[in-house]
Amino acid sequence: MKYDVKDVRLAKKGSLRIEWAREYMPVLSLIEDRFKKEKPFKGIRISACLHITTETACLAVALKQGGANVLLCASNPLSTQDDVAASLVSHFKIGVFAKKGEGRATYYKHMNMALDQRPNITLDDGADLVSTVHSKRRDLLKDIIGGTEETTTGIIRLRNLEKAGKLMHPIIAVNDADTKHLFDNRYGTGQSTIDGIIRATNRLIAGSQFIVCGYGWCGRGVAMRARGMGAIVTVCEVDSLRALEAVMDGYEVTSLKEAARYGDIFVTATGDTSILDKEHFKLMKDGAILANTGHFNVEINIAALKKLSKKTRKMRDFVQEYTLGNGKKINLLADGRLVNLVAAEGHPAHVMDMSFANQALASLFLIKNRKKLDKKVYRVPEAMDKEIARLKLKSMGVTIDKLTSEQEKYLSSWEAGT
Ligand code: NAI
Repeated sequence: MKYDVKDVRLAKKGSLRIEWAREYMPVLSLIEDRFKKEKPFKGIRISACLHITTETACLAVALKQGGANVLLCASNPLSTQDDVAASLVSHFKIGVFAKKGEGRATYYKHMNMALDQRPNITLDDGADLVSTVHSKRRDLLKDIIGGTEETTTGIIRLRNLEKAGKLMHPIIAVNDADTKHLFDNRYGTGQSTIDGIIRATNRLIAGSQFIVCGYGWCGRGVAMRARGMGAIVTVCEVDSLRALEAVMDGYEVTSLKEAARYGDIFVTATGDTSILDKEHFKLMKDGAILANTGHFNVEINIAALKKLSKKTRKMRDFVQEYTLGNGKKINLLADGRLVNLVAAEGHPAHVMDMSFANQALASLFLIKNRKKLDKKVYRVPEAMDKEIARLKLKSMGVTIDKLTSEQEKYLSSWEAGT
């Protein structure tokens, strides 16, 4: 079996952590039991480019139990949990090509190694796999039934590919499922981003001026949790509707140029480029902390920060201090990469349970509907989304009500009025 991980001797620690995560993933476990019996992926090759975390391990194992041949590479050079990669190789016989801290060249070398098995299904988090296949490895297209996409940024890229008329196979937009973005992006990113900032800096959040750039699903999660810990939260947005929501949710809303002057901690969560830029760094207070939780490391203009600086040094793990020409210091966390996955462990398993239940069922959907699907980006079917929510509630012991037949009739009528 081929693989490339940091150290297989870390496997024991990884397997205990995977077991811990599995306990919090009851919906995925149910799906795994079904896959184990039915073997729907027999003979199917799946290449997955996902953050190599304990939860991803549970997903890979579930797909393997379903008969798939699974290979994994990382969707970020810094997010790999090396003990998890080691355990997947040693205990689960799943080929992993990922090492925390790998450079760009190794990142793509690993991706190509995961692609070498000529996958039938690709699982992506950020669309690097699909983009590589569509640009550099087009020979693989003829074996591909379809792919799934985990995150907002990946969906944006894939919809652009579709719009350009260049998408060559169906994609299931897992991120767009309600059981994904309403929970993973909001509560998952909310909690784990704060976790990453605290682990990296050990800074008190209470009383801090906390600036959140982007009030999408991730941004509102981060804002909500920062406020919960006593921060004074400001939101910066470009979308008037979302900015208005932030105002009515009780946040200070202002331009980034204004907020740059008083922020203690800045978090970007936009999926956009150069949010925190030269003009903002110059205005910032001494000691400002910058973190990104959007998919790519483009939200903070690090090249501009370096250019403004006369000195830089590593202060702690995942904290790089930059001293600007004006003498003020700015601390950049996690090299501007997703702080929750680099400095902490990513989202808790409890929430990834729903995201990865979607991934597992979306992969099955691709197999079952391979003849019917076009070269398009599809939403997760509503029935599947609802079923995952139902199973999650059931696993939490939560009971909900049912419509009576009178209510069903009322809700489907138009005649009854005042
Ligand atoms: P979203 O589309 O719901 O929200 C993005 C928001 O950023 C929008 O409201 C948009 O108007 C705003 N925005 C765009 N450009 C801006 C600018 N120049 N200044 C201020 N605001 C701006 O997207 P979502 O789901 O919140 O995802 C955001 C990013 O986080 C994406 O890159 C996504 O892939 C990533 N993500 C990261 C996760 C993590 O584990 N850290 C988990 C899930 C998503």
